[in-house]
Amino acid sequence: MQRSNRELWLALIAMLLITLLYLFVTSYYSTIPSASGFFGHALGIVGFILMLLTETLYSWRKRSRSARWGRMASWLRFHIFTGLVGPYMVLLHTSWKFNGLAGIVTLFTLIIVLSGIIGRYIYTAIPRTPDGIEIEAQQLSQQIQALEKQLQQITAESDQSTREVARRLDVLPRTSGAPLLILLGNTFYEWRYRQQWRTEKRRLNAAARAQADQLQKVFNRRNTLRRQAQTIANARRLLALWHAVHIPIGVALFASAFVHIGAALYYATLLR
Ligand code: HEM
Ligand code: HEM
Repeated sequence: MQRSNRELWLALIAMLLITLLYLFVTSYYSTIPSASGFFGHALGIVGFILMLLTETLYSWRKRSRSARWGRMASWLRFHIFTGLVGPYMVLLHTSWKFNGLAGIVTLFTLIIVLSGIIGRYIYTAIPRTPDGIEIEAQQLSQQIQALEKQLQQITAESDQSTREVARRLDVLPRTSGAPLLILLGNTFYEWRYRQQWRTEKRRLNAAARAQADQLQKVFNRRNTLRRQAQTIANARRLLALWHAVHIPIGVALFASAFVHIGAALYYATLLR
């Protein structure tokens, strides 16, 4: 999937327009629109409908085997747009009072939006086709295999001294541990690896050094690809963990929102 922030910009523009309307209504009536008044109510209802669309449409499209309409990337864009604009409208609906259950629903809404932003960051760390299919890991492993073959070939044609160096420096990047540590540790490992090559090459004669230069390039490329493959695996694990947190928050949010809506309509609208 191509990385683009179009949906974020569109959401920002929509939120700006809604803010202008909100400020206009506020200044026209010289008071903050109440949650049960016409404008406040409308904000709550439209915002909530957008949130409902956020919760349902993307999941339906993702799980539907028959549906082919629209690319997954576009559906996720729509999910993010409505997932930002809907909660923002609902926030303006609250009239900045957060008592009781309604306050808890607002808190859940805030948490799910923040969680969504984190999820988007992890999701985009996994390269995909526009249909959301993860492709890169397989492609990477094919490229890694090709480089391994190339390494074997160059090593076989090299001098004994170069072969020895290749054997000593055929180290793989770290593939276990906390994702963040792997990420931070990489810069240090790369620097140390370069130093090791420099030291080893100093001991070689000119012809062997040229072969070693060639080998170093291929080793570097292979290690980079291996690291990329490792990042994808980590990102995938993090995404699975994130799903396990994000989805229950959504369920809790909508369960409490329906109670709030029922109670608010009954007490503040129907009994008035
Ligand atoms: C997730 C969506 C929603 C959230 C987070 C939310 C949040 C809130 C909050 C914080 C308040 C103010 C409570 C207070 O006075 O302390 C409120 C009031 C109210 N909400 Fe919502 N709301 C949502 C959706 C809706 C919807 C869809 C409706 C209508 C269908 C609605 C109807 C009302 C009404 C009528 C009040 C005024 C209650 C009163 O004056 O006592 N809300 N809401
Ligand atoms: C009202 C707010 C939101 C709700 C209720 C919501 C709900 C959900 C749900 C239920 C899923 C799971 C989809 C599935 O696998 O079936 C999901 C996934 C996701 N959401 Fe949200 N979301 C909201 C806001 C956001 C926001 C604001 C963003 C980004 C800025 C976002 C980004 C994502 C991403 C990246 C995924 C993962 C897609 C995947 O793994 O296929 N969400 N959301």
